[in-house]
Amino acid sequence: MKIGIPKEIMHKETRVSLVPDSVIKLLSQNNEVIIETGAGEQATFPDKSYLEAGATIAERFEELISESDIVLKIHPPNMDKHLGRVETDLLKDGSCLIGLLQPLSNTGLIETLRSKNITSLSLDAIPRIARAQSMDVLSSMSSLAGYKSAIMAANTLEKYFPMMMTAAGTYAPAKGLVLGAGVAGLQAIATSKRLGAVMQAFDVRPVVKEQVESVGATFVGLTEEENTEDSGGYAKEMNEESQNKERDLIQHYAKDADFIITTALIPGRPAPTLITKEMITAMKPGSVIIDLAAESGGNCEITKPGEKVMENGVAIFGPLNLPSTMPIHASQMYSRNVVNLLEHIMSEGELVLDLDDVITSGCCITHKGELIS
Ligand code: NAI
Repeated sequence: MKIGIPKEIMHKETRVSLVPDSVIKLLSQNNEVIIETGAGEQATFPDKSYLEAGATIAERFEELISESDIVLKIHPPNMDKHLGRVETDLLKDGSCLIGLLQPLSNTGLIETLRSKNITSLSLDAIPRIARAQSMDVLSSMSSLAGYKSAIMAANTLEKYFPMMMTAAGTYAPAKGLVLGAGVAGLQAIATSKRLGAVMQAFDVRPVVKEQVESVGATFVGLTEEENTEDSGGYAKEMNEESQNKERDLIQHYAKDADFIITTALIPGRPAPTLITKEMITAMKPGSVIIDLAAESGGNCEITKPGEKVMENGVAIFGPLNLPSTMPIHASQMYSRNVVNLLEHIMSEGELVLDLDDVITSGCCITHKGELIS
C-alpha cells in the first residue's frame, strides 16, 4: 500500500508521524512510503534521511494525498480554510486516515470523514489494555510531557531540587506535589525524584497508591473509599462533596510545596479544578505550578493555556504540546506506535480490518461510510 506522511501544519508543531527507521520497516512489508518535503525537518529528519531509507519525496501536499492509500498524521486534518490548506477535501475516496483525531470533540470532522468514505482510526481511542501497549500513543506522549514538566519546574524554581550540603550550609530538598498520577504524573514524580526532590502525589483512584510509591513518592489520599474509576480504568467525575474534600486535602499539602505538577484529566470532560486562586494565596512565594491539563481547561483556576501567570509570587505555567519540545524522541515514539498499529491491521500489504478485535474496533471511528465507534 502507499503510505503518505504529510507535514504537520499546526502552529508550533515540530513532530513528524513517521521517522526514517520506520520507513525501512514499512518498505520491508511490501509498502511504499511517500513523504511531503520538509515534513521531518523540525524533528531533525531531513528529506535526505527519508530518501536514504527508501521513501519518495512529494513536493506538494496535493500530490501526496491523491496517491496515498493510508495517510499518517498527528493532528486531525484541517477543515478550516482560514487556518491553511483544507486537508479533508483532498483525502482519496476509500483511503485510510490514522492520527489523534479526538472524535469526541471533533464531531464535524468525523461526519466529513464518514461521508467521504474514509476509514479513520483514532490513536487516542486505542483501548488502554496490555495487548495494545505497543500502540499506545497517549502513553508515549504523556510520558514525555511528564518528564518535561519536571524539568520545567526544576528550571523555574529559584532553589535547588536536591538536598545540598555545602560549606555555606545545608539546604533542604525541594518539595514537590503531583496531582493526578496517571502516565504523565508518574513520569513527573520519577523525574523529579531523580533530580533529588521529595515527592508527594494525589489521585482520586486509590489503585494508583502502589504505583506512586514504586516511583518514590508518598501517596496522600482521601480516607473514604469511593468508586472513582470507570470500566476503562479512567477517573470518573466526582460529586460536589467529594470535590470539596479533595480541595481541602490539596490545600493542606499545597501550602508546603515548592512546586506542583497537575495532570488530572477526565475523558470527554473539562479538566477538574483542583487549585483555586484562594489556595495560591496560601502558597509560598517563589513556588511554581506546572499545569499539564491546560489544554483541557486547566487544573488550576487561573491557568492561561500557553502562558505564564504570576499570583502571590507563585508562577503558574500552562504549557501546551510539551511533546513537541522534544521532537526527536516524540516522533520516534509516535512512529513506532503507529507502525505497531499498522502491523496489527495489515496483512500481506493489505488493510484487513477485523472489527471483532477489541483494539481495531476501539480505534476505528469510520469505515465504508459507517460510524463504527
Ligand atoms: P488521564 O490522562 O486520563 O488522567 C491523569 C490522571 O488524573 C489519572 O490518573 C486520573 O485518575 C487522575 N485524575 C482525574 N481526576 C482527578 C482528580 N479530580 N483529582 C486527582 N486526580 C485525578 O490518565 P492516563 O495517564 O491517560 O491513564 C488512564 C488510565 O489508563 C490509567 O488507569 C492508567 O493506569 C491506564 N493505562 C493502562 C495502560 C495499559 O496498557 N494497561 C497503559 C496506559 C495507561
